Amino acid sequence: MIKVAFFDTKEYDKASFERYEKPGDVEFKFLETKLTEDTAELANGCDAVCVFVNDTVNGTVIDKLYAGGTKMIALRCAGYNNVDVEHAYGKIHVAHVPAYSPYAVAEHTAALLLTSIRRIHKAYNRTRDFNFSLSGLTGFDLNGKTVGVVGTGKIGRIFINICRGFGMNVIAYDAFPAKDSDIEYVSLVELFERSDIISLHCPLTGETRHMINAEAIEKMKKGVVILNTSRGALIDAEALLAGIKARKVGAACLDVYEEEADIFFEDRSGHILNDELLSRLISMPNVIVTSHQAFLTEEALNNIAETTMKNIGSFFENDGICDNELCYRCGHIESCKKTRKERCF
Ligand code: NAI
Repeated sequence: MIKVAFFDTKEYDKASFERYEKPGDVEFKFLETKLTEDTAELANGCDAVCVFVNDTVNGTVIDKLYAGGTKMIALRCAGYNNVDVEHAYGKIHVAHVPAYSPYAVAEHTAALLLTSIRRIHKAYNRTRDFNFSLSGLTGFDLNGKTVGVVGTGKIGRIFINICRGFGMNVIAYDAFPAKDSDIEYVSLVELFERSDIISLHCPLTGETRHMINAEAIEKMKKGVVILNTSRGALIDAEALLAGIKARKVGAACLDVYEEEADIFFEDRSGHILNDELLSRLISMPNVIVTSHQAFLTEEALNNIAETTMKNIGSFFENDGICDNELCYRCGHIESCKKTRKERCF
């Protein structure tokens, strides 16, 4: 029997995973708490743990899980910047869901953009209060504007197509530009200088951390709209706030925030938010924050559950071989066995 402990479980996670539980065969332990150094032992005796974006999977947590008998960490998301994959090597196998609905994230990015520049969020509140004034709601046309897309992977490319549908000029930057595409690649500096709208779709790495900082904002056009549905730490939020206060940044739409781990996904209304920076950003009339919601469509949730259970199934029933295994050596060191279609360790 395979026992799986789910951390940071929400009711929509339960709804999409419950159908895969088979008593005596595959059993689930749904935990509402996040995985941390203090909660790792709740997974003792579980073969796999299933975690999400804001669970902590550092060296200490990995050692505790390993001591408790866990053999696999199944991420129910694509990004894995919260997992110390190097520390896990040789101890616990890590798998993720590389794609579940890039459309969900790209479409949410477009929704944020349109909401922001056409002031839909303000109009919605006004008309609910029978305030039919148009004062302060002037937007701008997307047609003919230049959008700079950072990261032209699955989500970035769908977002590019959406933007082209609006008649926008698209320029892009990627550390690994696609060879087979009609995308106009430019340097990051040129992208900052030319874009009316900048949208981030690259992973968070040591290199991309705070790629939008004071120096980058300095290079941007006055009134630039910044969209981030990727990872919070791509933006130095202090610098963003300063850019907004200086009227350099025209609007910011954030689905992610560097310090979101202890804030997002919970109802904190009625509490005093202990994050001055986020409170200040949210108080700005030209900032829209959604709480890491871009992935949240029915299609994405079903795909996440299906692929996660396939990952777990193939790992435990296929001699430990799992196509979606994340191994820090894969792609870096030729000797990694996975490159020979075997196990990583
Ligand atoms: P992907 O792996 O298909 O594409 C990422 C692209 O970024 C690749 O083209 C890659 O070459 C490029 N890249 C890598 N390093 C770079 C660098 N230093 N500078 C510029 N580009 C670089 O990933 P996908 O599926 O398009 O996802 C993109 C990001 O979206 C993920 O890393 C994740 O952080 C975020 N995401 C957010 C979700 C949400 O709910 N808000 C849900 C799913 C993903």
